[in-house]
Amino acid sequence: MLLSLSLLSFALTLVRAGAPIGLYQLSDYHVGYEFYNTFEFQTIADPTHGRVNYVNESYAISQNLTYASWDTFIMRADPTTLLSVSDPGRDSVRIQSYKSYTTHVVIFDIRHMPQGCATWPAAWETGSNWPYDGEVDIIEGVNDVSPNSMTLHTAPGCTMPTGNRTESGIIVTTDCNAFDNYNAGCGVSAPTTNSYGPTFNANGGGWYAMERTNSYIKVWFWARNDRTVPSDVRFAIPSPIINTNLWGTPTAYFPNNTDCDLASHFNENKIIINLTLCGDWAGSMFNQDGCPGDCVTYVNENPAAFINAYWDLASVRVYE
Ligand SMILES: *[C@@H]1O[C@H](CO)[C@@H](O)[C@H](O)[C@H]1NC(C)=O
Ligand SMILES: *[C@@H]1O[C@H](CO)[C@@H](O)[C@H](O)[C@H]1NC(C)=O
Ligand SMILES: *[C@@H]1O[C@H](CO)[C@@H](O)[C@H](O)[C@H]1NC(C)=O
Ligand SMILES: *[C@@H]1O[C@H](CO)[C@@H](O)[C@H](O)[C@H]1NC(C)=O
Ligand SMILES: *[C@@H]1O[C@H](CO)[C@@H](O)[C@H](O)[C@H]1NC(C)=O
Repeated sequence: MLLSLSLLSFALTLVRAGAPIGLYQLSDYHVGYEFYNTFEFQTIADPTHGRVNYVNESYAISQNLTYASWDTFIMRADPTTLLSVSDPGRDSVRIQSYKSYTTHVVIFDIRHMPQGCATWPAAWETGSNWPYDGEVDIIEGVNDVSPNSMTLHTAPGCTMPTGNRTESGIIVTTDCNAFDNYNAGCGVSAPTTNSYGPTFNANGGGWYAMERTNSYIKVWFWARNDRTVPSDVRFAIPSPIINTNLWGTPTAYFPNNTDCDLASHFNENKIIINLTLCGDWAGSMFNQDGCPGDCVTYVNENPAAFINAYWDLASVRVYE
């Protein structure tokens, strides 16, 4: 309470100073067992043609493909079954929040993300009418190749500036239109290798945060040992309010601009956490990324290669 009052009075000082306000209140705190109540297990066919079989909640629990305690939620690909060519794919889990969000901040506190050849994990948001509702990829990559990519995918008519963006990441592409460039989207790479995969995991993971307003979409990454992580992000007990104006330069910055009206390209979105194997991206880059042989065969014949293909989530918090 004292903390929130002092933050509030600080925020009011900023208002008086004429600064824009990045103040939000906690609306959802997903932690431990709570994920079973607030996220839906999606047993859909993988839209990106991966070698996975998304399983339902009861089956995931019975096979320990998801596991919860009071402060942990783990979801993984099956690390034990040898698959035959006719099997539908390696069992994995894809969860989507029941709740939708428009302008908001989401903070992922992650201890471990899936790693291994063939893995294509993602933590992201999208709506029911893709790509017209927009898509924000907060964490995404394939085959353990670091750094992390942060990407928007939209309907036609959304392009990001090629420069003058206050961000620590590196601009990769600027056309967000999902119908151009085989849906590459407009992406930014994180500047450090500890943002993704084995290096992220070896470091104890870290925090990803995304702020969506009609004026910009920002993504921040702080490694577990980063001394600059804001206190309203770091503490395990969630701060009742946060102020994104005190968070410093984001890793990726997608500004509203004359070539992209964010409000018309982004509608209500849900949070999705998934882990696919092979498929359009991880499969096509498999050998180039230094992985051996054929991706689907690798997935079928090497269950033990997926022992580290799991998410360990400390929490997902949403502020509005
Ligand atoms: C997983 O997430 C990525 C996010 O970029 C998405 O493109 C892909 O379709 C998703 N795959 C599955 C199988 O859900
Ligand atoms: C969940 O999946 C398992 C394995 O495919 C199946 O046997 C079971 O009927 C499913 N349960 C529900 C509630 O759909
Ligand atoms: C289920 O997974 C959790 C988390 O990885 C692990 O601690 C636990 O031992 C597993 N349980 C079984 C029965 O394998
Ligand atoms: C960046 O800003 C400068 C000064 O306003 C302008 O001249 C330049 O064209 C801008 N560059 C891009 C890529 O927008
Ligand atoms: C965003 O940019 C569009 C032009 O593309 C403009 O019409 C709109 O007012 C801007 N929105 C905000 C919130 O600044």
